[in-house]
Amino acid sequence: MDTGLQGRVALVTGANHGIGAAVAKGLAAEGAKLFLTYLRVRPQDTGWGEDVARGLSESAEALYAAMRAKSADHVVKSIRDAGGSAEAWETDLADPANIPLLFDRAESAFGAVDVLVNNAAHCEYPSRVLEANAASMDRHFAVNTRAVALMIQEYGRRHIERAARWGRIINVSTDAADAFGGSVWYGASKYAMESISRVAAKELGPYGVTVNVVSPGPVQTGGYGAEAVERESAACPMGRIGQPQDIADAVVLVASEQARWITGQLVYVGGGSRM
Ligand SMILES: NC(=O)c1ccc[n+]([C@@H]2O[C@H](COP(=O)([O-])OP(=O)(O)OC[C@H]3O[C@@H](n4cnc5c(N)ncnc54)[C@H](OP(=O)(O)O)[C@@H]3O)[C@@H](O)[C@H]2O)c1
Repeated sequence: MDTGLQGRVALVTGANHGIGAAVAKGLAAEGAKLFLTYLRVRPQDTGWGEDVARGLSESAEALYAAMRAKSADHVVKSIRDAGGSAEAWETDLADPANIPLLFDRAESAFGAVDVLVNNAAHCEYPSRVLEANAASMDRHFAVNTRAVALMIQEYGRRHIERAARWGRIINVSTDAADAFGGSVWYGASKYAMESISRVAAKELGPYGVTVNVVSPGPVQTGGYGAEAVERESAACPMGRIGQPQDIADAVVLVASEQARWITGQLVYVGGGSRM
């Protein structure tokens, strides 16, 4: 299937591992040029409290922390080794000043951005309403809601300025955004992002840009220990936990030419774990 992504410029956030890395490789395999961004997190800053909630074994937590401490160089290399084009820049999306700079860098590397995938996310475990802490709320909304809105605004401003007529914005949520027990600010900040995505679809539709939400169920990106994998697999109609490739393929689908008439929608990609 010719997805129509050959030669397009794609910007993917949170692309140094997990779902973001798989999305970047998936779009590159369709011929898009990839500008990646990420923010390494030091193991001691993972924001993980007692990790009972996710049944994280020592090894899983160590693996996940190690992945988050990596740059995106390995993803850039793998795309280039496969004959693709990729560049990366590390920046904190919680700081609004970094967003126009990010688009400047993407444009000077490959030209105007056609496909934007807002995949980066901040998540602290546990966080509960009864222990509400303003700083933790701010950290979640800064990345999962405000940064996504400002990325869409910057994309839209540049798209309209150059009178472009084709564009794709895909925002990655989570399938429990409406009530995420154990990490309330993570869920609530994603739910707010879903609302912003629908309004953005309305505002950007006249300019040929579709805006959609891809909402994964549990995906093994290093954070699930054996116990959790068993639990999630048993709860999933398809009988397994999701893999980053499962989400990447759905993002490619929604970014494709074939998805030109899909906008303002939320797609659950969880093997039926949420219907
Ligand atoms: N894995 C799952 O089970 C699952 C399920 C549902 C939804 N999701 C969503 O899928 C997306 C990818 O999740 P994942 O598990 O692959 O990765 P993840 O560990 O949730 O990390 C997301 C990415 O965001 C980056 N990031 C965090 N704070 C940032 C900031 N202030 N500025 C710039 N980048 C920042 C992270 O960099 P570092 O990792 O280097 O900090 C990482 O690359 C996220 O939106 C997540 O909410 C995941």
